[in-house]
Amino acid sequence: FSSEKYAVKRKNFGILKSADVEYFKSVLSEDRVLTDESDVLPFNIDWIKNCRGQSKIVLKPKTTDEVSQILSYCNKNRLAVCPQGGNTGLVGGSVPVFDEIVINLVHMNKIISLDDISGALVCEAGCILENLDNYVRDHNLIMPLDLGAKGSCHIGGNISTNAGGLRLLRYGNLHGSVLGIEAVKADGTVVDCLRTLKKDNTGYHLKHLFIGSEGTLGVVTKVAIHCPALPKAVSLGFFGVENFENLLKLYKSAKSSLGEILSAFEMADNKSISLTVENCKLSNPIGDYPFYVLIETHGSDETHDSEKLNRFLSQEMESGLILDGTVTSEPAKIKNIWHIRESIAGAGLINGYVFKYDVSLPLRNYYDLVLTLRTRVGDRARVYGYGHVGDGNIHINVSASKYSKELYAILEPFIYEEVAKVGGSISAEHGVGFRKPQFIHYSKDKTALQLMRDLKQSMDPNGILNPYKVLPDVPDIEKD
Ligand code: FAD
Ligand code: MLT
Ligand code: ZN
Repeated sequence: FSSEKYAVKRKNFGILKSADVEYFKSVLSEDRVLTDESDVLPFNIDWIKNCRGQSKIVLKPKTTDEVSQILSYCNKNRLAVCPQGGNTGLVGGSVPVFDEIVINLVHMNKIISLDDISGALVCEAGCILENLDNYVRDHNLIMPLDLGAKGSCHIGGNISTNAGGLRLLRYGNLHGSVLGIEAVKADGTVVDCLRTLKKDNTGYHLKHLFIGSEGTLGVVTKVAIHCPALPKAVSLGFFGVENFENLLKLYKSAKSSLGEILSAFEMADNKSISLTVENCKLSNPIGDYPFYVLIETHGSDETHDSEKLNRFLSQEMESGLILDGTVTSEPAKIKNIWHIRESIAGAGLINGYVFKYDVSLPLRNYYDLVLTLRTRVGDRARVYGYGHVGDGNIHINVSASKYSKELYAILEPFIYEEVAKVGGSISAEHGVGFRKPQFIHYSKDKTALQLMRDLKQSMDPNGILNPYKVLPDVPDIEKD
């Protein structure tokens, strides 16, 4: 039980015994306790195939009470656990590192209530994001977040990673949309903060502790979330741009010309799109350009909104900021263009291995790091950048035929050093997980890290919840 690749040692947790398995079978029905190696394997491997755990057991609770009984038992017996939703996380947080017990919430998928006046949806944490979106659309609402993994990620996983996604620019992040949370602490206590109020200043805002804490402070079991009104009109523009400087000018212009209807401003460089189109066998609706911009509008008047976007296109083609482009309000065409953008995430995997970076940078420095890395990496791998310009969040992928220690050493910690130099964040929206705890200090001050440790100690004194993730071990030098 040592992970040489990551130089991490197993902590002193209990080892699963047959009596433990029997206990879990008595709490859950037998079919919701997986112990066959082949059944457990997919829950040990993450989406991007960067991390592989060695768990021997997967538990699939159906109720909060079952989660509570499991955790209370694990806490008493010092058995470590790894909470898991749709296992689409990109930083190795969703899979065990050693033999942690996987608690997968797939069976906690009930919708509890929807208030179509306030837009408050209450549901269990294992609901799949796309299913929720389809459900609320029938009530003229949408989910406040959207991401490429919507078909498999769970709302509980979204909340635990504080997922951003494609329309954060318009609807804000989950700290704003989440109204309430029910979560189970490491000792099995159920914390009930499941309110649906917009305003509630009665003391500490505890729900925020669970948003973005990646399963290290509790297992989220129920969620109340605010759903915005379904936009009556959606339009989308896909544009080719000459250089990054023009792309930034276009962003400024989009904010002032499209104003209140702007719901997404996404970018991808030429390498991102060409690799995606080629590997995923898609077709690019416009020609070959150095940069691509995807703009979406959500509004209430189709004629007005598409006219606005078309006017923006002609105005900026005239100014030279847009070289060519297309604007559409047809749902099928909109879907196809989003599909290209959403496929970038997995496209590089087809070549073998992807080193993924998800960073926040000041917009002026947003693309510099891609260029610096290309020079540094040379012909060892393909380096490409894409992301959520509106949120100052770029994804830099380095795609190679296989993992190599040499390439890894070229990339890390260099990337994080560069991000820290300009005051960026080493994790914009994917989290810290297993891949980044040793680099968290580039973005978090010592005092903030200590407060995180204090919270962890208070909520999970035995450290059974998602160990080896998020928080770095205290360096020996700081131990006394
Ligand atoms: P998992 O991957 O299962 O888990 C993620 C983390 O949350 C783990 O640490 C896990 O322990 C914890 N966790 C999960 N469920 C619970 C729970 N109920 N209680 C406590 N802890 C829990 N992210 C973005 O922010 N924006 C994007 O645009 C985006 N696009 C993506 C596109 C693709 C194709 C993919 C594969 C991923 C993308 N992601 C994106 C990553 C993102 O973090 C996840 O997709 C999603 O939020 C994770 O949800 P999940 O249910 O799969 O959680
Ligand atoms: C995205 O914006 O596509 C996601 O965050 C996934 C990724 O970074 O590849
Ligand atoms: Zn993203």
